[in-house]
Amino acid sequence: MTTRVALVTGALGGIGTTICQELAKAGHKVVAADLPGLQHKDAWVAEQKAAGFDFYVAEANVAEYDSCKAMVEKVEKDIGPVDILVNNAGITRDKFFPKMDRAMWDAVISTNLTSLFNVTHTISPKMAERGWGRIINISSLNGVRGQAGQINYSAAKAGCLGFTKALALELVEKGVTVNAVAPGYIATKMVMAIRDDIRENIRNSIPMKRFGKPEEIGALCVYLASDLAGFITGATININGGMHMC
Ligand code: CAA
Ligand code: NAP
Repeated sequence: MTTRVALVTGALGGIGTTICQELAKAGHKVVAADLPGLQHKDAWVAEQKAAGFDFYVAEANVAEYDSCKAMVEKVEKDIGPVDILVNNAGITRDKFFPKMDRAMWDAVISTNLTSLFNVTHTISPKMAERGWGRIINISSLNGVRGQAGQINYSAAKAGCLGFTKALALELVEKGVTVNAVAPGYIATKMVMAIRDDIRENIRNSIPMKRFGKPEEIGALCVYLASDLAGFITGATININGGMHMC
């Protein structure tokens, strides 16, 4: 297997950590990127080292273009060009629309959608020049179908699907694939933040009656990042315990 440089944003989160681990287990050099100045970063790095993972740690706010550009330039200088990009960082600011304020809209759109421009813009032209690349954007079931209380999040995650398909077409003859993964409800702090009774109703609405595991997303990312996945581009892969059959 060819060893490649894989950059994962939102790396310290529930799904991001597992994607980093799975890509490392598949033999890639992993750049774990998250917000600058996170207090739990050192503990996270130590925990990963103890588990046998030696990630290169990078810092950028995905909502800010210059921050992302500087991060990518430093990564290129320190360990080489990025071959695999997983745009995973994301947040929720849930409220029913009448009570959602403009700050909640702006935060989610900039972190979950504009971030795709900010991170990918410096990386994808160089993948195209080298003739190989994998871009994996983490969307959501709630971008595919819409979710009450998540106008901002559903809009951003649906926008992610448009971004994915349009960029896939621009890069289709350059050896670079661009795909979206649309997870349903996965057991991370993002889902655990939902009020207990609401979360229990959601769990019962999933045909498999369970939340997904981060490893199930990580394994799919490893496949999409592989040479064998070279015929898949512009796709949205749903991974949600059967929710599309409801
Ligand atoms: N549309 C508009 N207004 C509604 C409504 C609806 N469908 N349902 C209720 N309301 C009104 C209520 O009548 C109430 O009005 P008043 O204040 O005038 O009485 C008001 O909205 C507030 O209702 P609540 O007190 O129930 O609202 P809340 O603020 O406590 O909760 C919520 C709202 C945060 C959106 C909550 O319902 C919720 O968490 N829902 C789940 C949303 C969800 O699935 N989020 C996923 C997070 S995980 C994730 O995003 C990962 C992923 O990709 C899958
Ligand atoms: P998580 O545990 O909250 O992780 C998100 C990570 O992104 C955190 O480390 C967070 O840092 C980081 N982040 C937030 N804002 C950032 C910014 N501006 N710049 C850089 N990093 C930032 O959430 P998760 O469940 O792993 O979610 C990962 C991705 O999967 C998100 O895009 C999410 O929308 C998507 N997703 C999740 C689910 C689910 O059910 N969990 C389902 C579908 C899709 P802080 O912790 O400091 O904020």
